[in-house]
Amino acid sequence: MTENFDAHPRSSLIVALDFDSLNTALKFAKSLADLVGMFKIGSQLFTAAGPAAVKEISALGPGIFLDLKFHDIPNTVAGAVLSCAAMSGVQLVNVHALGGTAMLQAAAQAISAGIPMGADRPRLLAVTVLTSMDQKAIREVGIGGPPKTRVVKLAKLAKSAGVDGVVASVQEARAIRKACGRDFLIVTPGVRPKDKASPSNGDDQARTATPTEAIKAGADFLVVGRPILAAADPRAAAQAIVEEIASAK
Ligand code: C5P
Repeated sequence: MTENFDAHPRSSLIVALDFDSLNTALKFAKSLADLVGMFKIGSQLFTAAGPAAVKEISALGPGIFLDLKFHDIPNTVAGAVLSCAAMSGVQLVNVHALGGTAMLQAAAQAISAGIPMGADRPRLLAVTVLTSMDQKAIREVGIGGPPKTRVVKLAKLAKSAGVDGVVASVQEARAIRKACGRDFLIVTPGVRPKDKASPSNGDDQARTATPTEAIKAGADFLVVGRPILAAADPRAAAQAIVEEIASAK
């Protein structure tokens, strides 16, 4: 590994560029580029703007978490992961752990394929259970038990298939760290600064926590979208989160 993700507290902050146009996303990303470790391009922006979004946003400096959450048959997912890994600037790529062992293994092989020996490669993450889902929601889709039990099982499955880490809520981070070890990456969305920690009207995240709680629970990266995107002063909001990360480390 040539990359040191931990160099500065800002490197733990991933800002989700959940915008519907590349122009808007670029303008916003430019205003924050010196304050964040990575930008996350998810299905909304990637569907609207395609690989140009990765190219133009990665040119600003921070790495890219390409959050497309693939969930398909192994051959199709392997091809999709290969395409992601070939895009310059992509540091994190993800699939759904619920795709199962064969799909996870195919993705893990694809993430290294085509990368020259000795060169750094993107890391592969598995989404465990969406942080928008609570116990009732996961029961409705036929998954029993509390989210934490399911998330830890999925994290172990992903690790044994060769995946580098998981996307999970802060509430499960400690148990994942214990089960999967220090080197397994934990990326936590659903992060809400203290004044916004209780789900407000219109917020779909069910399993939320503050930046301090996320770091203390062992998260390597915090994904933050709306608390920065919708802030009156997004730079100040990002800066406050980086300061909170720094004092929690
Ligand atoms: O606006 P907010 O801070 O809730 O944004 C969280 C981001 O993280 C969104 O882009 C969402 O798609 C993403 N995400 C998530 N839960 C996961 C994986 C990714 O909320 N399990």
